Amino acid sequence: SSIQPFDMVLFGGTGDLVMRKLLPALYHQHQDKHLPEQGRILCLGRSQPDQAAYLQAAEKAARQYLGDYFNDTDWASFTGRLIYLKLDAGEKAAYGALADKLNEFPEHIRVFYLATAPNLFAGICENLAAVGLNKGGARVVLEKPLGHDLASSQAINAQVGKHFKESQIYRIDHYLGKEAVQNLLALRFGNTFFEPLWRREWVRDVQITVTEQVGVEGRGDFYDKAGALRDMVQNHLLQLLCFIAMEPPASVDPDAVRDEKLKILRALRRFGPQEVAQKSVRGQYKAGASAGKPAVGYLDEPGIAGDSKTETFVAIKAEIDTWRWAGVPFYLRTGKRMQERLAEIVINFQQVPHSIFQSPANTTGNRLVIQLQPEESVKMYLLAKQPGDQMKLKQVHLDLDFDETFKSRRPDAYERLLTDVIRGRLTLFMRRDELDEAWRWVEPILDSWEQSDDAPKQYTAGSWGPAASSALLSRDGFCWHEEG
Ligand code: BG6
Repeated sequence: SSIQPFDMVLFGGTGDLVMRKLLPALYHQHQDKHLPEQGRILCLGRSQPDQAAYLQAAEKAARQYLGDYFNDTDWASFTGRLIYLKLDAGEKAAYGALADKLNEFPEHIRVFYLATAPNLFAGICENLAAVGLNKGGARVVLEKPLGHDLASSQAINAQVGKHFKESQIYRIDHYLGKEAVQNLLALRFGNTFFEPLWRREWVRDVQITVTEQVGVEGRGDFYDKAGALRDMVQNHLLQLLCFIAMEPPASVDPDAVRDEKLKILRALRRFGPQEVAQKSVRGQYKAGASAGKPAVGYLDEPGIAGDSKTETFVAIKAEIDTWRWAGVPFYLRTGKRMQERLAEIVINFQQVPHSIFQSPANTTGNRLVIQLQPEESVKMYLLAKQPGDQMKLKQVHLDLDFDETFKSRRPDAYERLLTDVIRGRLTLFMRRDELDEAWRWVEPILDSWEQSDDAPKQYTAGSWGPAASSALLSRDGFCWHEEG
């Protein structure tokens, strides 16, 4: 459906997320002619003096991040939508000017995107409400991190909730905007042959891996207080787990999907200190090499305390206590400064109950690999007979490469999510109770780590993580996808 006239207000308009992700996403949608003519983008910030200076900074960033998609004509017409307002988001008096600007078009759908530090969220919402901007179809988009534990996350949600109804609140997890994640839904619920097998009788284990080659990249101050569990697992990895594990929702209505995800989060087995010790691995990278270049250790990165125990790697064995999944381990793993940039979901199926073949190749079962990054693909591993006069089996795969199959530009996650907000589609955004539940699961792990005297396990930058990560699986007789 086409997009209605809108005003999108970007708080934190001079910041990294807006420059690196949001403006490029909106530019792509503009270039592909998906945005209506009546669609304004109001960028709020303090660090640029005026519109001309802002546009100059935005163009510089756009050239860098859009690469070949940048062209002068499209950029010129795109900037016709951009309005820079020099405004201090914490200053109540400044909101009158914003209201005036928006009231030029009272019929526009209003989106307030809070791409700022979360400690500003409450104040911004209060100030918006004070000038009546929370009314009608207004929508507010919240970026992560939403707090650093259950209590702080609940406090933010409560404060935002004073001024906006839950149906107006869009909590972003950009992983849900990734094409491959939506394809997971298509795969599971658009086909008949996966769903009957998608359960404990047939699935042996599930692996969710999101690794990066980059280190903390100038975000040391932030990252050292967060760590990989808060930064990646509490949100992105648990959301992926929900999409894999949830029961079929009755429709793609927001609450139909979010109710099912919530049930999974509630069924995740909670960890006590003993389980934390047995089923989680926290790691921290030491000096090594990344993508062929020497890389310093985490403790020598700028902004990191010299004795920091913050984890840059996590591996966890999660279990879901439901009839469908009882006894099936869900191994989660994420890390910075790892060997490859890779995001994938691996479903390992059970072995055949009895092998009629003599050949030793028959030890590997079927495997479904859904890759999100760096490429998007779905691979189904099976055994086939090798040509020749002997019955020799070999593992082969059926391969769906999205680039090759669809031959179209793959939109960035933010393109999908930003246009979903304007369209009023909440399905790919997190509901408040989901967030609470995710924190409830993560918090005991954080607490145990904090109380423990153990240091994180070291791993060499550019490796697949600490040895304990492989041991977590080998204890169960399994191994990570790239190891076997
Ligand atoms: C963000 C984290 O949410 O996700 C970053 O804060 C991380 O630390 C990023 O690098 C990874 O996203 P993507 O889309 O590059 O896999």
